[in-house]
Amino acid sequence: MSNILVIGASGQIGKQATQKLLDAGHSVTALVRSKDKLSDFDSASLSIFEQNLEEDFSKAFEGQESVVFCAGSGGNTGPEKTLLIDLWAARNAVEFAKKANVKHFIMVSSVGADDPDAADSPIKPYLVAKHMADEHLLNSGLNYTILRPGSLTDEPGTEYVQESMPEKDEDRKVPREDVATAILYSVDQQKASNRIIGLFTGDQPLKAVFQ
Ligand SMILES: NC(=O)c1ccc[n+]([C@@H]2O[C@H](COP(=O)([O-])OP(=O)(O)OC[C@H]3O[C@@H](n4cnc5c(N)ncnc54)[C@H](OP(=O)(O)O)[C@@H]3O)[C@@H](O)[C@H]2O)c1
Repeated sequence: MSNILVIGASGQIGKQATQKLLDAGHSVTALVRSKDKLSDFDSASLSIFEQNLEEDFSKAFEGQESVVFCAGSGGNTGPEKTLLIDLWAARNAVEFAKKANVKHFIMVSSVGADDPDAADSPIKPYLVAKHMADEHLLNSGLNYTILRPGSLTDEPGTEYVQESMPEKDEDRKVPREDVATAILYSVDQQKASNRIIGLFTGDQPLKAVFQ
């Protein structure tokens, strides 16, 4: 069992991933802006590190074996936070992970981050930020898993996915719970190493993607 830092642990994916990692027996350090958001957690294996990602959060990486970055500025903030969180905080997390000799970095990226120019959409700046953060991880020398989910839903997880992008726009989605499960499998399974994995609801068992 490992020591895992979850950055964005108070988020919708982050909370579910934290719970799944704790249930699987890992020790989790949850990096959050406010510890109140995790008041419903009750586990001796959970440590809370309160920090804003716009400040220096390097100390959170000490003693960590894996890092999960599932923070995000969200759709209700402007381009400033897209730059500071989705790009710069993610980039800083990669740098801090390298300095702390972290063994594995799991990035929650996004569908479309591979080629922002293909997106004729208002979210293109966000996709550029995600792209640059992913590139920084890819070039870091760290063992990486980059998860690129489609549009996130709050449906219960199905644990069935496909990695390739569905043809129709309306099929390019996946429940947050399945992304959280994919984070757990990324931590636990060897086959997650140095891979970029698309996540859309489909007909392949999620676990098989990682075995
Ligand atoms: N929405 C989509 O359809 C979609 C699709 C593909 C990928 N994604 C990616 O999926 C990931 C997570 O999605 P989600 O639905 O779980 O997002 P979410 O619920 O909005 O969670 C975002 C997390 O980031 C944290 N955060 C934001 N700014 C911060 C700061 N300055 N300092 C510390 N923490 C900060 C939030 O903390 P607080 O709780 O304090 O706000 C929260 O824990 C994101 O990386 C997003 O880009 C989203």
